[in-house]
Amino acid sequence: MAEIIAKRRLAPQITLYEISAARIAQNARPGQFVILRLSEQGERIPLTIADFDRERGVITIVVQEVGKTTMELARYEPGDHILDLLGPCGTGIEIKQYGRVACVCGGLGAAPIYPKAKALRAAGNEIITFIGAQTAERFVFSEELAAVSSEMHYATDDGSYGHHGFVTDVLRKYLESGRTVDKAIAVGPVPMMKAVCEITKQFDIPTTVSLNAIMVDGTGMCGGCRVTVVGEIKFSCIDGPSFDGHQVDFDELTMRQRFYRQQEQESMQRHVCRLGGIE
Ligand code: FAD
Ligand code: FES
Ligand code: MG
Repeated sequence: MAEIIAKRRLAPQITLYEISAARIAQNARPGQFVILRLSEQGERIPLTIADFDRERGVITIVVQEVGKTTMELARYEPGDHILDLLGPCGTGIEIKQYGRVACVCGGLGAAPIYPKAKALRAAGNEIITFIGAQTAERFVFSEELAAVSSEMHYATDDGSYGHHGFVTDVLRKYLESGRTVDKAIAVGPVPMMKAVCEITKQFDIPTTVSLNAIMVDGTGMCGGCRVTVVGEIKFSCIDGPSFDGHQVDFDELTMRQRFYRQQEQESMQRHVCRLGGIE
């Protein structure tokens, strides 16, 4: 059991939780994640460790309500306990001195990219952040990222802040202007990461992406999270979730992410009915 010690709404349907988890905080590295389960009958879902404080024994997760389990979690308050919290899972990313690093994130991806940007900055890299959101009010972790970045470039789908359009347009313009980066990392929706990789490939910039494949056990046993990288099968939960973006089969990932859509919708429908007292 792990206690929620703080909760803060960051944007509509996006909430930050601080959770007391000393052993996970002690061992966490940027890019790793936890798997949580809320009840005996509940499913297990992966969530990135967006920050960790070893002294306080606390980890931070940022969660977007997209379906049954994330909506259920949104009802938890400080003082409530999460039944199972497993982690840190995954390999994390390699932190070394590259030079200038472009951190490209979309939507909720800004929270998971933050610990990577922070660690890369601490390792002596210059961080240039490209951050996109649907509207200005949906930016998350932009202040935290600004604190570790030399430059921030913003984009919104509706033009309410920064460039009117995709964050990848801003990245492309930046690179076409002749400015160089030595490494790129991208976290966000699959189409965004795929678009980032198409651009960075043209400029020959090594790029690491964080794949949000569907996970079940998180231990490399079930095969649910399998992805194809350089034509080889990898398990996101133990071999990733960070991979060389130029080698990932994004189309297969997109197809596999939709695999349980019908069951997910039915499950959410039942959950909403229960909350409304219909069932
Ligand atoms: P559902 O209606 O069940 O699913 C909605 C969509 O979420 C699905 O279509 C599918 O694409 C995805 N999803 C569903 N179940 C899983 C699962 N077991 N594993 C992976 N994806 C699933 N979300 C955040 O809000 N914050 C994070 O920091 C975060 N980090 C992640 C890190 C990793 C390594 C991975 C793989 C996923 C991460 N996600 C994160 C996505 C999160 O796990 C899903 O949004 C969540 O599982 C949805 O559950 P649900 O029951 O609310 O929605
Ligand atoms: Fe089962 Fe990765 S989640 S093998
Ligand atoms: Mg679900």
